[in-house]
Amino acid sequence: MYRKDNQDEFYTRLAQKQGYPARSVYKLKELDEKYRLIRKGDRVLDLGCAPGSWLLYLAQKVGAKGQILGFDTEDVKIPPSANIVFIKKSVFDMTEADLKNKFNVVVSDLSPKTSGIKFMDAGRSLEMAEKAFEIAEKVLRPGGNFVCKIFKNELSDEFFGQMKNYFDFAQRFKPKAVIKKSKELYMIGKGFRI
Ligand SMILES: C[S@@+](CC[C@H](N)C(=O)[O-])C[C@H]1O[C@@H](n2cnc3c(N)ncnc32)[C@H](O)[C@@H]1O
Repeated sequence: MYRKDNQDEFYTRLAQKQGYPARSVYKLKELDEKYRLIRKGDRVLDLGCAPGSWLLYLAQKVGAKGQILGFDTEDVKIPPSANIVFIKKSVFDMTEADLKNKFNVVVSDLSPKTSGIKFMDAGRSLEMAEKAFEIAEKVLRPGGNFVCKIFKNELSDEFFGQMKNYFDFAQRFKPKAVIKKSKELYMIGKGFRI
């Protein structure tokens, strides 16, 4: 408990100090530094983007020539930026019109509201990861990159087994900012193959 609180507090304070609305930014930052996922000028789709710390990180990373599109059912809490477009909508309600553009990178930090009932939470998280991948399959450019959060269990292993066939390289990774006892991890796919 002591360790969990300490770790949470460390990243929460760092996020406040650095102007990010959520400590989850350090998960994406570590993933990006380790796997080199995002480049200047990229177009990135961010699924489950509120309150917006990933949006801020992505916008800085892609620069003025890049573009970030974010979807969430909740509002974002970041200042407007010329290279960020936010749409308040569930990923389960996205239409063909929402999916007409192509992206270099798709990231998903989608999380269900947890109930505390492990198999239910893991099932909902799997549904969200599958949805994120279904969207990525439609919009990723060949060679593009994919990141999605999932709660680990046997079903998530099966999902990874399928997902990895679509990429030149795929791996699972638990960033330092994820609390130690959490089942949360990230699946990374690099080099999308149509
Ligand atoms: C962990 S938070 C994302 C934090 C974000 N990456 C950041 O750094 O600010 C997970 C988000 O998933 C969103 N979410 C959950 N279900 C969703 C759905 N069906 N469609 C869109 N967003 C959803 C939640 O509203 C929540 O904002």
